[in-house]
Amino acid sequence: TSRRKTDMNKRPIIIDTDPGIDDALAIAIALFSDELDVRLISTVAGNVGLDKVTYNALRLLKYFGREDVPVAVGADRPLIREFEDASSVHGKSGMEGFDFEEPTQQPLKENAVDAMRNVIMNSSEPVTLVPIAPLTNIALLLKTYPEVKRNIREIVLMGGSASRGNKGVMAEFNIALDPEAAHMVFHSGVKLTMVGLDVGLKALVLPEDSEEIRTMNKTGEMAYCLFKKYRGGSFRTGLKMYDATAVAYLLKPELFEAVETYLDVELHGTMTAGCTLVDLKGYLGKEPNATVCLDIDGNAFRTWFKEAIAKCR
Ligand code: BDR
Ligand code: CA
Repeated sequence: TSRRKTDMNKRPIIIDTDPGIDDALAIAIALFSDELDVRLISTVAGNVGLDKVTYNALRLLKYFGREDVPVAVGADRPLIREFEDASSVHGKSGMEGFDFEEPTQQPLKENAVDAMRNVIMNSSEPVTLVPIAPLTNIALLLKTYPEVKRNIREIVLMGGSASRGNKGVMAEFNIALDPEAAHMVFHSGVKLTMVGLDVGLKALVLPEDSEEIRTMNKTGEMAYCLFKKYRGGSFRTGLKMYDATAVAYLLKPELFEAVETYLDVELHGTMTAGCTLVDLKGYLGKEPNATVCLDIDGNAFRTWFKEAIAKCR
């Protein structure tokens, strides 16, 4: 189709996700960006269980009129630990607050790991992975099919923190849910950028932005309804658009302040499991293995976010 032809000039990406209200907005922005070609959406247990996040991904694609984008179903639980959801933040369904139509699209028969492998290996151009959920699928992919590393351009993930947490005192949700998976990804040798809470907590959509977004288009209308139910931050003090920051990093890296550093994750702490260690001062004496975003221009992000939503359907 003609759409596919123009997409040849776009950067191919795979979004690994657990929609999730902030996931929904990140997906919308990526789908309607002139610069990105979303080749696959893979789902993983996270904000809510696997069946719900997969259903949500399908509902979003239906709503956006983008059922041409394949959806692959991934892991229903972390590698080792018990699954715990975040329905207190995103609501029981994971995308509470809006009445979506029933999707008609079926997920692929292949599981997420096989589907990711095929997209990566069949791409003429290296593919960028954008995980905005626990890293279970990505860890399984890199372990099962290490040959994919040759054709991955980089991983730009939302997760972790160079300071405090939002799931535990020190741990961020996506990493805390599956720290062993994060460990495998951090040590995989693939070029990695961590877009964590250091920027996510400052990537706010204020009430006046929500009002503006509401009347922009279909996506804005939906966003407004979801925002009203999003408890990640109150509607009045500003909503944290965590997952959209990973997409922002791809499209507008100049919004961020980032450093090359050594990045690891605590697996065995008695109170800090899942906490990322960003060794800014080089205490561990290790070579850098990641780029870590430490700051974002919050006002410029708000402007960018609104412009990006305005480009959606
Ligand atoms: C991350 O956790 C999830 O609740 C959000 O969707 C985001 O990916 C923020 O810590
Ligand atoms: Ca998410």
